[in-house]
Formats: sequence, structure tokens, C-alpha cells
Amino acid sequence: MKMTPMAPDCGVQIDGVALAECSDSEMQAIKQAIYEHGVAVFRDQDFTPEAHITFGKRWGGIDVNNYFPLQDDYNEIAVVKKEPDQQTNIGGAWHTDHSYDQIPAMGSVLVARHLPPSGGDTMWAHMGAAYDALSDELKAKIEGLEAFHTADHVYKADGLYAKTDMGRDLRGQDMKTGAVHPVVIRHPQTGRRLLYVNNAFTIHFVGQTREQSLPLLQELYSAALTATNQCRLQWQPGTVAIWDNRTSWHNAINDYQGHYREMHRITLSGEALAA
Ligand code: SIN
Repeated sequence: MKMTPMAPDCGVQIDGVALAECSDSEMQAIKQAIYEHGVAVFRDQDFTPEAHITFGKRWGGIDVNNYFPLQDDYNEIAVVKKEPDQQTNIGGAWHTDHSYDQIPAMGSVLVARHLPPSGGDTMWAHMGAAYDALSDELKAKIEGLEAFHTADHVYKADGLYAKTDMGRDLRGQDMKTGAVHPVVIRHPQTGRRLLYVNNAFTIHFVGQTREQSLPLLQELYSAALTATNQCRLQWQPGTVAIWDNRTSWHNAINDYQGHYREMHRITLSGEALAA
């Protein structure tokens, strides 16, 4: 396998491996690369829905998403799609998947199924590099803090998505979610310190109101995007991206109005997070 960094501090492209048939040692090297780089991109993959599910189970289990439509014959696969007449896309702002769960999904395996003629890239940002780049003063301010995360304001019947043309496709609008995680976690496998708050799902610091929390949260969100900790993927047919939700944020760029885009996502089971 050949590994080529996508940006100085985020992402790696891995060539020379067929994900559907990779050996146990290749799988181990792929996992380690994703834990470290935040996201790995694989080109020219022959990844059928069956292979997608087998790969997810082989990694360590699948967390089925509560909200997105599921693929008809393969209910482990969430369909992330935008029709030509829709304006809003799923995931079109920096976020990390499932941080509203007390045991959040470890990561996601996203397969390109139908791409617009141009645009529809996805970006990632590395939260280890983000933490390292914080000033000592900011690091001291967040030491020992915990934050509350939920998805209710996004997905409920009168939530953010329901107010857009994306609302018509959602499931699970009556679900209740809520989780508390340290603001700085240690990666369960690499031990690296990672900033673990995100603008989509983090509501407030524990012991503070939303209003009290917002100034510091906004400061962290601005500081988390540095000149070198972001990478951007231009999808092609056969591209698969696998990312680590603890190590990275991601953002689906919504610049292809009037065109259809369909991606298939499996969310990989994770573990409880600790400081
Ligand atoms: C997501 O999982 O947030 C969507 C990513 C994408 O569609 O590129």
C-alpha cells in the first residue's frame, strides 16, 4: 500500500489496496492511518453494498443512523442524497457525526454513488492539530471542562432541517438525544489529545448556560481551523472515504445546485470517550 498525505496535518490517500478484499494486516495499517490522519481516501474501489456492509462489520460493528433514509435492501446503509430541486444538503457545515450519543460512532465509511458534474467535495479538519495549535491560555481555559451534545434541535419535527427542504426525507424526528463528553479527549487508540466540540451538536459546557458557553465555544470553533489542518476531497466514481469522528470534523460542500448527488454511508461503532 502507498500512503500519500492530502495536506500537511490532515488526511491521507491510500493506493494499492482493494478494500473489499484487504488482508488483516492491511486492515490494521488502514485503521492506524485513519486514527492518525483523521481521514483516508481510496480511489477506484469496487465496493458493492454487500462489500460496504461486510467491511463495516469487519472493522468492529455498525451504528445505524437514526435520521437519514436507509437504503431499501440494505438497512445498515444510510443514504446521504440531495435531489436537483433541493437547496439544502446533509452535513453542509463543520460537524462530527453522532457526538450526541454517549458512545459516539467511531467513524464513517462514505461511498460515492452518484456525483454532480462538478462540485460536491467534502472537507475534513484534524482536531489533534487543532488542539495543538490552541494558545496555552485557551488550553488552560478548557482543561477539565465537559460539554453537553444533542441532535434534537437539528432533527426534531420543528428543528433546523425540518425548516429546510431537507426535512421531507428524515426519520426519527421524535428521538431524544443527549451526551456529555470531555472537551478535550484522548484518542482511544493513539492517545493523542483532540478537541471534541462541534458547532452542529455541542450546546453548552457542563455547569454553564448556552449563553455563558457560546463565547468560548465560538473562540474554539475559529481556532480549530488552521492553515494546515484541513484537506479537501474531489470525489470520483469509485472513491471511498473513511474517517475518524474523534480525530476530525467534516463539511459537505453545497455548491452543485440543480444536480443530483447520492452517497452511501455506514457509521462504525465506537467507544466511550475519556479525557
Ligand atoms: C456527512 O456524512 O456529513 C456527509 C458527507 C458528504 O456528503 O460528503
